[in-house]
Amino acid sequence: MTPVDLRQLGDAELREHIAAELARTRQRSTALTDAVDEPDLVSQHSPLMSPLVWDYAHIANQEEIWLVRDVGGREAVRADIDSMYDAFQNARADRPSLPLLSPAQTRGYVGQVRQKVLEVLDRAPLNVNRLTRSGFAFGMVIQHEQQHDETMLATHQLRRSGPPLQAPPPAPPVAAGLAREVLIPAGPFTMGTSTEAWALDNERPAHQVQVGAFYLDTTPVTNGDYLRFLSDGGYDDRRWWSEPGWEYRQRAGLTAPLFWTRDADGSWWRRSFGTLLPVAENEPVVHVCLYEAQAYAAWAGRRLPTEAEWEKAARWDPASQRSRRYPWGDDDPTPERANLGQRHLRPAPAGSYPAGASPYGVHQLIGDVWEWTSSTFAGYPGFEVFPYPEYSRVFFGQDYYVLRGGSFGTDRAACRGTFRNWDFPIRRQIFAGFRTARDAELG
Ligand code: AVJ
Ligand code: FE
Repeated sequence: MTPVDLRQLGDAELREHIAAELARTRQRSTALTDAVDEPDLVSQHSPLMSPLVWDYAHIANQEEIWLVRDVGGREAVRADIDSMYDAFQNARADRPSLPLLSPAQTRGYVGQVRQKVLEVLDRAPLNVNRLTRSGFAFGMVIQHEQQHDETMLATHQLRRSGPPLQAPPPAPPVAAGLAREVLIPAGPFTMGTSTEAWALDNERPAHQVQVGAFYLDTTPVTNGDYLRFLSDGGYDDRRWWSEPGWEYRQRAGLTAPLFWTRDADGSWWRRSFGTLLPVAENEPVVHVCLYEAQAYAAWAGRRLPTEAEWEKAARWDPASQRSRRYPWGDDDPTPERANLGQRHLRPAPAGSYPAGASPYGVHQLIGDVWEWTSSTFAGYPGFEVFPYPEYSRVFFGQDYYVLRGGSFGTDRAACRGTFRNWDFPIRRQIFAGFRTARDAELG
């Protein structure tokens, strides 16, 4: 079990924890790349995605740069391939035409780097500088690999060839008679963190934010809810869409979430990892872009929550008057609390995971589907780049919107109450849904 506070661990325990997390993460990357044959590893399944073999070598290249060269102070394993696996030098659409390492060469490189990293982990002093404090660089590299594992899962969802990915459906307890929404009273809360050892630069520092009273959906918006918007002509009603949203809806010809199709009888189906499933009314909707989420919310007479509202609902404990790591408290996620970690390849029904609910009674804030917020991606007051501007800072501005909470495809190492994800408002291939909010009347 992951310890709550890495800063409390002794040197040997910290190294053991890092080794276990590196191994657990690599198991997933291995499974995701062993799931298909060579042609499916090297081909591009969508112009939005890299070939799987690029992700895999990029994971190892980042691991080499940060852990072998930077922390370990050792010679490069393959300095000659850095630029090929640099995301900024190569747009995703161009990656298949690079002279990439073959699948066998990639697996060899991945293994070579890992062997050196384990030597570094055995010998390098930890807690000597900011990069090694509480093993931060290792934690960053573990999260980076887990993030690319979710990206590779999105590639699997897009691919039309080869064997489908399979996983058992989630079957958690579901709360009965849940209220549709809960009131989150006005008041300040602590947003972000200055104490979470492996939190990334954009989650820092902790700071006080005033949030007005608002109502928040107790669960993510479901397929059943979304179907009512759809059958009410929501996609064709200009009133519900923002200007850029309508422009994109027209240009892309949006009529339903990505991967949905309708049969001759008028029933809706969705393609999920190569399998056609009926659209289940009680499951959170997934594969919608920000503009679709906003249009639904407008149709429902509501709005998306801001990022601060989302985090207050997920972290603030009114009883102790402090922000916690997760909705349920400070302990790490477990299978009873949240649908994370690619154990199931779909979201669980709305109202699932009562053990993971927040003190205000909000369910499924962590796991199931990433949740779009109305906030663009910006640095918190006092933000400092660490350790490189290309993780967060270069994405700050009006182009990207923040998503919170993680999905069924996100690992627990890369998901917490403070974790911030971001993407363009038109993106639908990510495992994103949303919940809605409304202002509470004053007085
Ligand atoms: C945080 C998911 C937006 O995948 O683009 C991966 C994470 N940064 N490699 C992404 C990331 C560098 C990033 N997201
Ligand atoms: Fe990356």
